[in-house]
Amino acid sequence: MKKIKTQVGIVGAGPAGLTLANWLRKQGISAVILENRSRVYIESRVRAGLLEQNTVDILENLGIADRLKKEGLRHEGVNLSFNGDRIRVPFGELTQGRNITIYGQQEVVKDLTNAWLDGGGELYFEATANKIEDIESDNPKIYFEYEGEQSVLECDFVAACDGFHGLGRKTMPEGSYNEFTVTYPFSWLGILANVAPSSEELIYAYHENGFALSSSRSESVSRLYIQCENDDKVENWTDDQIWDELEIRLGTPGWELKRGPIFEKGITPMRSYFIDNMQKGRLFLAGDAAHIVPPTGGKGLNLAIADVKHLVDGFTAFYKDANTTELDSYSETALKRIWRAQDFSNFMTTLFHKHEEHGSFGYQLQKAKFDYIKRSKAYRTTISENYVGMPFEAFE
Ligand code: PHB
Repeated sequence: MKKIKTQVGIVGAGPAGLTLANWLRKQGISAVILENRSRVYIESRVRAGLLEQNTVDILENLGIADRLKKEGLRHEGVNLSFNGDRIRVPFGELTQGRNITIYGQQEVVKDLTNAWLDGGGELYFEATANKIEDIESDNPKIYFEYEGEQSVLECDFVAACDGFHGLGRKTMPEGSYNEFTVTYPFSWLGILANVAPSSEELIYAYHENGFALSSSRSESVSRLYIQCENDDKVENWTDDQIWDELEIRLGTPGWELKRGPIFEKGITPMRSYFIDNMQKGRLFLAGDAAHIVPPTGGKGLNLAIADVKHLVDGFTAFYKDANTTELDSYSETALKRIWRAQDFSNFMTTLFHKHEEHGSFGYQLQKAKFDYIKRSKAYRTTISENYVGMPFEAFE
């Protein structure tokens, strides 16, 4: 059996695992990543593309933001629309200059992978982790299959950044956590199209036909979504039907939707999930392995990167000062932001989706909320600070 050793063994080369590896290297801590998919797969997996200020700052501090700074689209406001009535929330102004950047998650993954490998980092693609053992000892082990051979990664700590279906959470002993799940009764049909965005900033829209979102990836690529049924299939929608529906739902007087060739279509389910303990012994969970938020508000990737920050703080204190305080409180620290994001993502989801009959009590509450956002700077400020992401100090 092939044996490898490192300080932090990382399962999963998504944004969490890759950011963790790059950041640990900067702190002088060794790491090895095991990824069960291929490089092509992880670099082309289409996900949301909204980076909070904190996330951009972290990537910049790691020296991995050159392309992001050049190609990412920095936004200082967001449009919210209800039945065709559209307002702009200037979140930059309302949060003393904090902003968001639109840059596809797969681009972040490409930049992080290049940085890790260019710096000589070890990353095993198509390496299937099948068992994590001895998490209560000082020497946990990750068993994995690579090129037909059983191998083992021996480490001081295991960071499971292996997503919702990964081995990490399954390794947490029964009874070591409680889980919370909400499955929403609708999904998103998302498209990428070769056409300039119809609006410089994002538009989140409620319409009696359902939710719609207009986003972008670059000056010439648009990213758009519409609410659809949970059992819907992309084959049920022609390109024209998608554009027609977007036009109806996003429409407002004097605004025109630009149409273009669609080159990617996919359906995203909407769910909230999280567990209330992200650590057992020397096994730590980060990112989707521990929590899923519905994509309304684009918090998923940003939460994963925030988890990583707390892990790096903990590992650094451990290796530099033999101090375990931060590692011991990892779950507690990370969960404060996770709860905040669950609440905000649920708020955005509930406000903009059609989940109650148009005209019902539930609908009137949605409408009353939107009306209040229009009238109250305090409410717009609340939305803004959640949307751009609260600074780390706010949770101390
Ligand atoms: C995206 O651009 O993919 C995106 C943006 C904002 C969201 C969700 C997705 O809330």
